[in-house]
Amino acid sequence: MEAVTGATGYIGSLLVKRLAGEGRVVRALARDPSRLDLPAGAHAVEADLLRPRGLAAALEGCRVAYYLVHSMESATADGGDFASRDRRAAEAFVAAANAAGVERVVYLGGLTPRAGPPSRHLASRLEVERMLLDGLPRSTALRASIVVGAGSSSFRIIVRLVERLRVLPLAGFGARRTRPIDERDVLDYLALTPRTIAAAGRTLDVAGPQELTFAEIIARVAELMGVGRPTLRLPSGAMQGGAAVVARLSGQPLELVRPLMESLEHDLLPRNDDALRLYGLRPRSFDRAVDHALADWERAERLGAR
Ligand SMILES: NC(=O)c1ccc[n+]([C@@H]2O[C@H](COP(=O)([O-])OP(=O)(O)OC[C@H]3O[C@@H](n4cnc5c(N)ncnc54)[C@H](OP(=O)(O)O)[C@@H]3O)[C@@H](O)[C@H]2O)c1
Repeated sequence: MEAVTGATGYIGSLLVKRLAGEGRVVRALARDPSRLDLPAGAHAVEADLLRPRGLAAALEGCRVAYYLVHSMESATADGGDFASRDRRAAEAFVAAANAAGVERVVYLGGLTPRAGPPSRHLASRLEVERMLLDGLPRSTALRASIVVGAGSSSFRIIVRLVERLRVLPLAGFGARRTRPIDERDVLDYLALTPRTIAAAGRTLDVAGPQELTFAEIIARVAELMGVGRPTLRLPSGAMQGGAAVVARLSGQPLELVRPLMESLEHDLLPRNDDALRLYGLRPRSFDRAVDHALADWERAERLGAR
């Protein structure tokens, strides 16, 4: 049996469907199981990593546990920032997973910059990664930058800005480079990891095939949405305070947008393509990823600019 934490989240909910679709037996952990829409073969269990009583019981009998939790959007009454919440959650999870006899954890975190210090968000993702790998040494941490999919917060921000702004202002971040990855490739990596023995105990960077600047990403998304959006280049630092504007325009919470924007200080590129070779995957192109994401999006809600 495999446990999926964060089963109400973007990646977690897709992964539950993917694993169950392969006939795997899945236990979906959620703070509020009534929000789960589970396929046959998946069972719900209530679990809050910040209230760890009963967490070990929730993981009992699971050889593998996916860790797909972050708490940037979920400020709690007891206060504290997202990094301290995520630290506490990971600590409780490691203790419970060890007590329950979990052998491997599969974690999806963020690519880290090579040119400078990680942002608060990426430092926190890295801290969680280290806690999981130290606490359960046969675990695997996958690191990605933007996941392209209709439910992905970072992709949704880009689409909403293209949709709602006639001219797109770009400050220093427009020149930063990254390799966005199709959500279907992320799901392939996650689903294959428990069966990929050579991935045990490793941190692997996962990425799409194309290296793009954020300006190119935005231009390509606009093109695939069928709209023309001239860009306006602003001097570096001109978008101080821009997170509030972006949050308002994109409809995403400021607690999420601000740390995501702070992560655009440096290029976010994979260290190597070891994961591709290890898993034998051929990643989908950026255009295919965006087309798939926009089609998915339009099945669920209207897209004004397409
Ligand atoms: N989306 C991307 O573009 C992207 C890119 C790179 C890496 N990742 C990584 O992928 C992982 C999953 O991200 P996501 O985009 O799927 O995030 P998401 O949609 O925001 O989901 C986060 C999940 O964490 C759960 N959670 C938060 N606090 C919890 C707690 N105390 N106890 C139990 N569950 C808790 C949430 O549950 P509730 O529904 O109850 O709040 C939700 O299910 C993260 O590690 C993220 O860093 C994502």
